[in-house]
Amino acid sequence: MRGIILAGGTATRLKPLTEVVNKHLLPVYNKPVIYYTLEKMAQAGIKDVLITTGAEHSGEFLNLLRSGKEFGLQISYEVQDEPRGLSDAVSLAEDFADNKKILVILGDNVFSHDLRPAVEKFKQQEKGAMIFAIPMKNPSQYGVVEIKEGKVVSLEEKPKNPKSDLVQTGIYMYDNQVFNLIKTLKPSTRGELEITDLNNLYLKQGQLSCEIMSGWWVDIGTSFDELYRANKLVAEKK
Ligand code: DAU
Repeated sequence: MRGIILAGGTATRLKPLTEVVNKHLLPVYNKPVIYYTLEKMAQAGIKDVLITTGAEHSGEFLNLLRSGKEFGLQISYEVQDEPRGLSDAVSLAEDFADNKKILVILGDNVFSHDLRPAVEKFKQQEKGAMIFAIPMKNPSQYGVVEIKEGKVVSLEEKPKNPKSDLVQTGIYMYDNQVFNLIKTLKPSTRGELEITDLNNLYLKQGQLSCEIMSGWWVDIGTSFDELYRANKLVAEKK
């Protein structure tokens, strides 16, 4: 399997911290945020990772992470010209994926769960997609997953009236249908190709499974409080 880390976007919710510094390079305790996703890729047994980011910050990622040797990874880089959404960023990985299954992690997610068992399970699976969910107190800030009898029955992006407290985290696994499915997506009202719309295509085909994560998970891009929570959790676990 190949890994993709999405590290573009505008990070408006963390301004002024992100006025000149890319969100994924902000510190969480003793490391830049993106280190945590790279370590999770390595822990999951992934060797080749593509980082997608905006042109204005791509040089900084290259200077910091270089070939990826320090992480035991081979890192490639791809520029997303405009922040047209998560599915748009994933589409940049079509050649890199080389028809293999992919593990996508949003570069602003910091979490404790070990992905390796799910990756091994997904490798054995013939087709489909897998998402990862965890209960959160304020689900309407995220994608919300509804599960009945162990099966995903609905998936909604930032709903006003969430159907459950289970949120879709920024970790996704896809088979090689993913790039053709992205080509069928239309931009949402905010002008982006949404990851939730992509996952809903798999759901409609009856090919979406969901793993409930253990431990803790933070999307540091949500708010200053969440960024602070990630710092605290990482520091306490040291
Ligand atoms: O973190 C989990 C949440 O991430 C999910 O619950 C939501 O379903 C999903 O849509 C996403 O929501 P966010 O509002 O957090 O997405 P955000 O725009 O902050 O982007 C997430 C990451 O993707 C962030 O690291 C920046 C990167 N990104 C974003 C956009 C819009 C890109 O690389 N390119 C982009 O065009």
